[in-house]
Amino acid sequence: MRFKNKFVLVTGAGQNTGLGLAAAFAKAGATVFLNDRTAESVAGALAALRRRGLKKLVGVPADIGIPAEVAALFRQIRAQAGRLDVVVNNAAHLGLGHTALEMPVEFFAQVVRVNLVGTFHVAQQAARLMGRRGGTIINIASNVSTRAIQKRCAYVASKGGVDALTLALASELGPLGIRVNAIAPGYIHSDRWKTLPTAHAQRRRANIPLGREATPEDIANAALFLASSDAANITGARLVVDGGCSAQHLPRDIDV
Ligand SMILES: NC(=O)c1ccc[n+]([C@@H]2O[C@H](COP(=O)([O-])OP(=O)(O)OC[C@H]3O[C@@H](n4cnc5c(N)ncnc54)[C@H](OP(=O)(O)O)[C@@H]3O)[C@@H](O)[C@H]2O)c1
Repeated sequence: MRFKNKFVLVTGAGQNTGLGLAAAFAKAGATVFLNDRTAESVAGALAALRRRGLKKLVGVPADIGIPAEVAALFRQIRAQAGRLDVVVNNAAHLGLGHTALEMPVEFFAQVVRVNLVGTFHVAQQAARLMGRRGGTIINIASNVSTRAIQKRCAYVASKGGVDALTLALASELGPLGIRVNAIAPGYIHSDRWKTLPTAHAQRRRANIPLGREATPEDIANAALFLASSDAANITGARLVVDGGCSAQHLPRDIDV
């Protein structure tokens, strides 16, 4: 029970990676504030985790891209716990479906509003609540910030911003005892994998040096480490959890 008596906020925890993160911190003994964009998805996630015997959970629906909703979310945490020890900024707009040439500027702005502005706002509110007691902020970034993918320029740019924001916050908040780190996943096994044609999924896996995509538990294990006292002197780090994808220059199925 490494996180007994700790209060943890996970954003975008209605499904997939965020749900795995919330489950992992709850299993480790924390009280978890579980955020997602809609009340329905928060209720669904709470029900799923309670069926697994996890009890110390509080639903806090809010759109992290809307400042008034972030403020309300933190009013709820202040009222119910009066403190926060860990925040995992996991919520993201995936920004799918437009080439750079045709992407509407407002779409680009909305992706940045959620992934970068929202991450900043949640981190700022969390840091104010943590204060001099200290705490840990973990931003879920992506390996695409250093190796871009196509038709997702807003998402790629927003994750580059998250990397830089992590450094800036680590530098400013370190003196308060607040550590700020990023996790940069590659492929994560989400519900979307179930919709991939088999050949497509196999090709993805063939191009991962370790041969498989991360599970939400792999990402959660990295978060548990970064949030724990084992990482007490680590801040401003970007922990890549991508099965080795970033380590290689060309896809493995290209014969060089
Ligand atoms: N999946 C991957 O392969 C992969 C790879 C690298 C990095 N990542 C990063 O890992 C994290 C989790 O990815 P995932 O694939 O698990 O994502 P996901 O399945 O899309 O889940 C993200 C959750 O965040 C919620 N969300 C979106 N916008 C929000 C907002 N404004 N306020 C509050 N909640 C919001 C989503 O709700 P709605 O669906 O209702 O919008 C969804 O429940 C993200 O930061 C992502 O960028 C993922």
